[in-house]
Amino acid sequence: MQENQETIYQDIPELKWVESREEGTEREVKSYVLRSSYLRTYQVEAVKKYYATYGLAYEKRILDWKQIFGNDKPVVIEIGFGMGTATERIAKERNQYNYLCLEVFLSGFAKLLDKVGSQQLDNVRLMRFDAVQVLTDMVGDGSVAGFHIFFPDPWPKKRQQKRRLIQKPFTSLLASKLSKGGYIYCVTDWEEYAYQMLDVLGSTEGLENPYQGFCPAVTWRDTTKFEKKGLEKHHPINEVWFEKQ
Ligand SMILES: C[S@@+](CC[C@H](N)C(=O)[O-])C[C@H]1O[C@@H](n2cnc3c(N)ncnc32)[C@H](O)[C@@H]1O
Repeated sequence: MQENQETIYQDIPELKWVESREEGTEREVKSYVLRSSYLRTYQVEAVKKYYATYGLAYEKRILDWKQIFGNDKPVVIEIGFGMGTATERIAKERNQYNYLCLEVFLSGFAKLLDKVGSQQLDNVRLMRFDAVQVLTDMVGDGSVAGFHIFFPDPWPKKRQQKRRLIQKPFTSLLASKLSKGGYIYCVTDWEEYAYQMLDVLGSTEGLENPYQGFCPAVTWRDTTKFEKKGLEKHHPINEVWFEKQ
């Protein structure tokens, strides 16, 4: 199971960085758990073929969007794209934007990289790294047009809830990176988390909810893998949209 992951790490060591931790640092609470990924042959080949063009490495430097994408289109960041189902369609249909797509799950990363590379979706770049660190160290304040966060892990047990992504101070970090009029668009099938999103984003300085509560279903988002799982369990799907003032 580990073997084909290791082949990739030998060729592209930076893809493994998110799995290591600096010596001596306290263990931080993370919003994800790293699962080992079985990669199919096409995924291994996709990483080897397309990473140099569409992949980015974590570094402590502010990204220059124009240099990365070769144009001035506004940039949307997707956090935790999973298998990339929604990402592919959005990148094609809303191609007035560039997309930086962040995911730590290697199999999903390789799958989306295959779709992006084989179709030459030049408005997409992928990073396999922790979004919290990427935003903190690599994204300029006021430089992002939108955030997409679809079905973030709900961490349903009380003792796990500190792992939830949508909470302070992370929402303040999101707000600080948005340009004026930029948006945060989150969707969840976990009702209590949906209300937490409304509360916490509603009390984050600089953000405004243009809707009374949840926003109407957005038509340009495909049903994602985790959305399907939620629907099978008859969970309500709630959408949350905030804008930077
Ligand atoms: C429940 S899954 C949802 C995936 C996909 N958006 C969907 O709707 O099918 C949440 C994903 O977020 C990723 N994730 C969680 N925290 C993250 C972080 N800090 N940085 C990058 N990815 C993260 C996880 O690896 C996981 O794949």
